[in-house]
Amino acid sequence: MGGIDRLREEFERDCKGVSSLKQLEGLRIKYLGRKGLLTQRLRALSALPPAERPAAGKEINVLKRHIEAEIKRREADLSAAELKKKASTGFVDITVPGKYIPSGSQHPVNRVLEEIVEIFVFMGFTVEEGPEVELDYYNFEALNIPRDHPARDMQDTFYVRTDVEGHGDAGAESDVVLRTHTSPVQIRVMERQTPPLRFIAPGKVYRCDADVSHTPMFHQVEGLMVGEDITFSHLKSLLKLFIHSLFSPDTPVRFRPSYFPFTEPSAEIDIGCILCRGEGCRVCKGTGWLEVLGAGMVHPKVFECVGYDTERYTGFAFGMGVERLTMLKFGIDDIRLFYENDLRFLRQF
Ligand code: DAH
Repeated sequence: MGGIDRLREEFERDCKGVSSLKQLEGLRIKYLGRKGLLTQRLRALSALPPAERPAAGKEINVLKRHIEAEIKRREADLSAAELKKKASTGFVDITVPGKYIPSGSQHPVNRVLEEIVEIFVFMGFTVEEGPEVELDYYNFEALNIPRDHPARDMQDTFYVRTDVEGHGDAGAESDVVLRTHTSPVQIRVMERQTPPLRFIAPGKVYRCDADVSHTPMFHQVEGLMVGEDITFSHLKSLLKLFIHSLFSPDTPVRFRPSYFPFTEPSAEIDIGCILCRGEGCRVCKGTGWLEVLGAGMVHPKVFECVGYDTERYTGFAFGMGVERLTMLKFGIDDIRLFYENDLRFLRQF
């Protein structure tokens, strides 16, 4: 079929004359449109004797692909040039959709932990840290938790194997544990500092436990204040102020006598149930109160362990679970939600 070469020449000529996207579109219609020159040629194929069709068809298709590619190339060049021109004249197309960059959010437990730290730092406390892999001595012994105390039960404590070399008695309790609370930091700090001191020690703790209100790892914040005239009233006003800062200033607070080996006297601190406002519900088990803190005056045996003069110094200590406080603050009823990494849960914070 003749004329293909002429058509190609015509296209090249037309192409050279194109200087805008609009003209380029005209060119596309002229050759590739429904009634375009090339489309007409393809339709005319059926009029040819069957023997000539394949060769003629091939010729047209080669030109068609050439024209398509050429138009595409010119289109890219022309739009780049037009954009450049627009940019140089200060045109900004505010209708171009922006790129969506999803932002992360802070984990609820960390959020509450930071809030707790902030409240105590505001009250003049410093922040201390201790190791999560801890010696039995710091985790138990120096805190007046004797060998036969139930807290040492294999059920609660993760023991770290120290008999790996093969000589140890596999059944014996090791001296190395994952700390079960942040209280050992009290001992470590008192060993290296003399009173007066006041600090908090936030961090991870570990217990062999898992259900709706327990995870094997959770967070605690320990607090300690030691000086010459520190009394239980200091402890009471400090913790009240803390609770009223973390929750709301009208939250009811009560101190209930309790027992901890490392404090005497000891107390547990309850707040009026956040969910039912004291009426009694499932969360507070009908009592209207929720336990949020353990506390007390530091036991003289603890001071003796770190060489403090028990006649001269007194102090108080307290400890709290961060997951529990977070659950109460946000009305979350299953602690495991914190550690399932479900974005539908995490995105709410
Ligand atoms: N260590 C305790 C626990 O894990 C919490 C605690 C209670 C810490 C009383 C204290 C305290 O410092 O005085 O349950």
